[in-house]
Amino acid sequence: MGRKLYIKTFGCQMNEYDSARIVDLLRATYGMETVAEAEQADVLLLNTCSIREKAQEKVFTQLGFWKGLKELRPGVVIGVGGCVASQEGDALRRRAPHVDVVFGPQTLHRLPELLGTALRDRTPAVDTSFPEIEKFDRLPEPRADGVRAFVSAMEGCSKYCSFCVVPYTRGEEFSRPFDDVIAEVAILAEQGVREVILLGQNVNAYRGVRNDGGVADLAELVRYVAEVDGIARIRYTTSHPVEFGDALIRAHVEVPQLAAHLHLPVQSGSDRILALMKRGHTVEDYRARIGRLLDARPDISISSDFIVGFPGETDADFRATMDLIEETGFDQSFSFLYSPRPGTPAALLEDATPQHVREERLQILQRRNEEMAAQISLGMVGTVQRILVEGLSRRNPKQLCGRTENNRVVNFECADRNLVGHILEVEITEAAHFTLRGRLAGGVVAASAVSR
Ligand code: SAH
Ligand code: F3S
Repeated sequence: MGRKLYIKTFGCQMNEYDSARIVDLLRATYGMETVAEAEQADVLLLNTCSIREKAQEKVFTQLGFWKGLKELRPGVVIGVGGCVASQEGDALRRRAPHVDVVFGPQTLHRLPELLGTALRDRTPAVDTSFPEIEKFDRLPEPRADGVRAFVSAMEGCSKYCSFCVVPYTRGEEFSRPFDDVIAEVAILAEQGVREVILLGQNVNAYRGVRNDGGVADLAELVRYVAEVDGIARIRYTTSHPVEFGDALIRAHVEVPQLAAHLHLPVQSGSDRILALMKRGHTVEDYRARIGRLLDARPDISISSDFIVGFPGETDADFRATMDLIEETGFDQSFSFLYSPRPGTPAALLEDATPQHVREERLQILQRRNEEMAAQISLGMVGTVQRILVEGLSRRNPKQLCGRTENNRVVNFECADRNLVGHILEVEITEAAHFTLRGRLAGGVVAASAVSR
């Protein structure tokens, strides 16, 4: 068909992964190539996020812009996927009638048919069902783009935290078969991928069926991914504290490729709020789990997500969150103002806390988190870090750019492009905000086993 595709992605890494797979799929089925500007495209796709109200509203603003494009070129086809599509279904087209195709996170593999209907018959097509198992079986082989790649291990979430839409928009937890995940990693590694980020809304709940009939957990998946030729670094995200057990802690000790970083969202440092959020654990449980990890790997950096201003959050609850932050010394964390989501139990809770108090709390928490992350960056000056080289530095072609295990970008003098995809030892010489500078300190630590 030779049509041109423009895809815009909002939201989490899972959406980024899904968008990459959509590109692979439409290239394989229709020979579509992506273009950098929406104005050049025949097919416009929006992969959406509904985790907070603001994210949801962005979708309709974007669709407003695209309406103008379609008026100029009526042949353009507009598709909306992701969590807003899943939540709204048909209703989305009532609010934005210029949308031709609506697909959910679990039906993106049906896009060729859905788009075919829209392109051929000029009739709209909507499919936001949850035929979980189908999706991965019907996607083509992934095409790598750089040395890092996301690989979905799990879809959906069955935790039903009282504030969260994910279980409704992405469906219940579903683990991809173990051997399929490993095969995808191997395909990516052959194309030069060195760092794999295993994805799931709740990835440490992974229970993948193996070809031999057994069931593997995330720790086992990590160990096997580490055995794939060329894989020099492994991360996984996002984890839930309840599923964070000793098997994973052992993997952090025994698997050298597993980065010394853990993103383990706690949301609040108050037991009362955690119970209202239905997180299924106490603050003490959380402390105990990361305590065990830090006993085994004292160098590990831990980041978290926080929700501020959950209904009924008092000053004392907020102080408890700040206390947990002080005591743990979290690195580069994310924090959000609570946003009531339609259909979630927390949306029914009364909240008497004035908006300005909630916003002040968020500011206090964000400022402290930033200070702590900056302190960690400063503390890295003078140390030698293992950097996975991702490419040339954006500003200076005589420099290479890579990432530390705790996810900081480092630029350092070296014009040897052949080092892209290798892990190097770099001494950190300077820390500015979240970008570090360094100089080569040693040789290559991990060379790629596969020719690139
Ligand atoms: N699976 C992850 C979370 C995925 S959503 C977990 O175990 O927690 C990413 C983050 O968005 C959450 O950690 C939470 O901090 C935030 N979030 C989710 N729903 C929200 C809401 N209704 N309002 C504000 N923040 C929210
Ligand atoms: Fe959402 Fe809680 Fe799952 S935050 S993604 S329901 S673990």
